Amino acid sequence: MSRILITSALPYINGIKHLGNLVGSMLPADVYARFQRAKGHDVAYICATDEHGTPAELAAKKAGVPVADYCAEQHDIQAEAGRGFGLSFDHFGRSSSPTNHDLTQHFANQLIRNGFVDERMDRQVYSIADERFLPDRYVEGTCPNCKFEKARGDQCDNCGKLLDPVDLIDPYSAISGSRDIEVRETKHLYLLQSKLADEVRAWVDSHADWPQLTKSIAYKWLDEGLRDRSITRDLQWGVPVGREGFDGKVFYVWFDAPIEYIAATKEWDPEGWQRWWKTDEGADDTRYIQFMGKDNVAFHTVSFPCTLIGSREPWKKVDTLKTLNWLNWYGGKFSTSEGRGIFMDTALEISSPDNWRWYLMSNAPESDDTSFTLESFAGAVNKDLADVLGNLVNRVTRFAGSRFDGMVPDGGEWGEAEETLAAELDRRIKAYTDYLEAIEFRKAFAELRGIWVAGNEYLQTAAPWAAFKTDPAKAAVGVRTALNLVKIIAALSAPVIPFTSAKLQAIFGDPVETPAWPTGAAKDLLDTLPRGTAFNQPEVLVSKIEPEQIEEWAERFGAPRD
Ligand code: MF3
Ligand code: ZN
Repeated sequence: MSRILITSALPYINGIKHLGNLVGSMLPADVYARFQRAKGHDVAYICATDEHGTPAELAAKKAGVPVADYCAEQHDIQAEAGRGFGLSFDHFGRSSSPTNHDLTQHFANQLIRNGFVDERMDRQVYSIADERFLPDRYVEGTCPNCKFEKARGDQCDNCGKLLDPVDLIDPYSAISGSRDIEVRETKHLYLLQSKLADEVRAWVDSHADWPQLTKSIAYKWLDEGLRDRSITRDLQWGVPVGREGFDGKVFYVWFDAPIEYIAATKEWDPEGWQRWWKTDEGADDTRYIQFMGKDNVAFHTVSFPCTLIGSREPWKKVDTLKTLNWLNWYGGKFSTSEGRGIFMDTALEISSPDNWRWYLMSNAPESDDTSFTLESFAGAVNKDLADVLGNLVNRVTRFAGSRFDGMVPDGGEWGEAEETLAAELDRRIKAYTDYLEAIEFRKAFAELRGIWVAGNEYLQTAAPWAAFKTDPAKAAVGVRTALNLVKIIAALSAPVIPFTSAKLQAIFGDPVETPAWPTGAAKDLLDTLPRGTAFNQPEVLVSKIEPEQIEEWAERFGAPRD
């Protein structure tokens, strides 16, 4: 048994997340955590809301509530949606917690002590009307690169270029709209990433096994040369810098957010958190896997490692990163600010969590960006879950219910059809397990679907309904084998469709959150249910999505129609 630490990129607090965010980090991390728990490992799956920075303040302002209240409310909303989707966080914290305040200041102090931080005079946009500095998104204007007129201070949404607020043309305040703006000097802390670049590069080099997408992003940043970057801002909301001459300044959100991975673990396990995070206190045998969308990779392969390495303390660093591409809303983009797409709360109003989980994970944007469409969602639910999995379970349980008195039949001999099924199961369970271990979800779930298909094919060949009159022993073997297969499938499917797994498990007894991973020869697995005992008829597993529903949802969510 080993210790496995899993984190997913912290969802930003400025509103409920859309399906693209969900499949980009939290859902794949959850599936992986469930799989590793089923294999008997000691797993910590840690996540939190990312609550600081100008987007949080702007969203609170728009909602007309104090930013602290806004964050508390939104945290609860996101936690609730996470529960609805079955996200099995061991802890879902908040980056604004006192624990994270302390730890963020601790890291800053270490970096200062070790000579990796400078105080520098900086030139920042100041709004005379608002009587304050306008960092990052508080200022908007024309992009110096592409001339887009609504570029934000930190980044242009049109051309994607990262910007410095003072470079915007015709800047105006995002708070008041005022153009009465000047550039003023203000003191900030700079993290001297240039001094740490060689160490970070050596560490990245030591991970030749990382996926190509991850490595290419890390090296792109390293090759461009690490720039020293300001880690403080002129804002109220955030972790106070707490140094002389820094009143009214807080740490930059991207400095404190990843530290929350550690702080949340500490909150979850105040006595034992070190074994996950301190390599001199057990974390050298912890395997750490991070899940994130591709826009987050540089922060996790370069910036956060700078913080950890520069502290000169024995912190655990990530072993493997799973980087996801974008899920697009039809051809375009899901957008939180524009409310485009389907969001976690509304998704659960219109369909079951497992329908979403199956669709999103079996079509995860792993090797490329992928387009979400309601049609492909309905296809995955109707074909895979209803026609293949649902059909298999219903056929065997109904037949066994009526012809074998709802019991697992005894008698009969294992024949050729059973041999064929067992051989295919041996092969597919191994492939499926290996793909999950390698965190290759699409391939993994193609194997799982293959197992469901194999079950239907087996029933077709064994045809217990045809054998029942002439050769009841053969029918008994067929039904018994298929029932055992349903039980195996309940365990194999649990990481991706845990609610359906619970219904499948309930056929044979009380369901558990984490059914043990099936291991050993398929011929033994296919004969574990005690013969002659009663089983229960399943609840409705999946209902099909009707064309009218697709039309109704398309209208409701403004899906492009052709
Ligand atoms: N909130 C960020 C985003 O939505 C992700 C933060 S990840 C962490 O892109 F490492 F900073 F925690
Ligand atoms: Zn631009």
